[in-house]
Amino acid sequence: MTLSQYDAIVLGAGAAGLMCAAVAGQRGRRVLLLDHAEAVGKKILISGGGRCNFTNIHTAPDRYISTNPHFAKSALARYTPADFIALVDSYRIAWHEKTLGQLFCDGSAKQVVAMLLEEAAKGGVDVRCGQPVRAVAHADGLYRVTFGDQLFTAANLVIATGGPSIPKMGASGFAYDLAHQFGLKVVEPRPALVPLTLGGDDVLFRDLSGVATPVEARSGKTAFREAALFTHKGLSGPAILQISSYWRHGEPVTIDFLPDAAPGWLVEAKRTRPRATLTAMLGGTLPDRLAQTLAERLQLPGELGTHTDRKLTDAEARLSRWAFHPNGTEGFAKAEVTVGGISTAFLSSQTMMAKSVPGLYAVGEAVDVTGWLGGYNFQWAWASGHAA
Ligand code: FDA
Repeated sequence: MTLSQYDAIVLGAGAAGLMCAAVAGQRGRRVLLLDHAEAVGKKILISGGGRCNFTNIHTAPDRYISTNPHFAKSALARYTPADFIALVDSYRIAWHEKTLGQLFCDGSAKQVVAMLLEEAAKGGVDVRCGQPVRAVAHADGLYRVTFGDQLFTAANLVIATGGPSIPKMGASGFAYDLAHQFGLKVVEPRPALVPLTLGGDDVLFRDLSGVATPVEARSGKTAFREAALFTHKGLSGPAILQISSYWRHGEPVTIDFLPDAAPGWLVEAKRTRPRATLTAMLGGTLPDRLAQTLAERLQLPGELGTHTDRKLTDAEARLSRWAFHPNGTEGFAKAEVTVGGISTAFLSSQTMMAKSVPGLYAVGEAVDVTGWLGGYNFQWAWASGHAA
């Protein structure tokens, strides 16, 4: 067994680990970056459909979910989307805003990984992949990491191994094991930005698989206005992925199918078009198959003029608060991120260092900070990695 000593060992060469290692290296630290996967930055490569939605210009702490909503503020304020854009620009990587402040590469996510590796190289970071981390120990102020058959030591150890979403890409709950080993609590991890599954009465909606429409999806006090998509298992699309991060088992998700409709629109429609059917009225805005299914469920057959105002008002209310009762999610196998993770109560928001374990840091998705869909999670990875 060989033994080599560094100032810092970063476990996990994903978004947060690469950023952290590069910055530390460029500040003169001897840094070792380790990953059990054969290659670095795998999630970056598949992100944003291969174009990496690398940040969001509307980044703000209220777009992150955490047991402590204040925790992310410091790191996000000290490394902003503008900082990452400046880095991307310095590599002449062309990008564009797609929608809602989401920035994507014009070319490929490979450019972002190449950029981060180049930054790591500038800092002299030693990058090693493709071996399991067999053991991590801490004694006499040094962390000892057994990587394959090699032993490395450092005064600082950074946990950057992400969360358990998409295990077939090498994701693991290793960060939580390490946290427990060092006495840090873990907020129960749940799949997030994940499709919801429907059963029971809602199962009929699965017949609409492939139908998409703009909606407002709500769980408790939180609502998102984006597209929802019916799937053969239930509900997906950006509005649903966003709301999945807030949804808890047993709670309904309510959908406003006509978020732009004026209050009283259906009674008004009865006055102006008494011979129209509900299906036809809904079909003016919604996809035909969805309009038909909703109209059937509302049981208002025939012409609008034959129904009382009361019934139409009730139907309008249901259309604006259609309650689905998801029986679950598609789980970590399909989740883009994880809600929960290493408890922020045990970490410094300034440095990401564990308050009770000198030299131990946690960054990125491993920590109980989860962003909305749309580049927010990478911005957290860059910012927390930079802070550490
Ligand atoms: P990340 O998962 O990137 O890296 C962790 C690293 O640790 C990996 O390289 C892994 O191999 C390694 N590792 C894990 N277990 C280990 C172990 N036991 N030993 C050694 N190494 C280990 N976000 C966003 O902002 N914009 C987007 O466009 C997308 N798109 C997207 C698409 C898909 C399909 C997914 C699954 C996710 C996204 N995301 C996203 C989310 C984003 O990918 C995620 O938030 C970041 O990658 C998190 O960065 P981390 O560095 O914390 O973990």
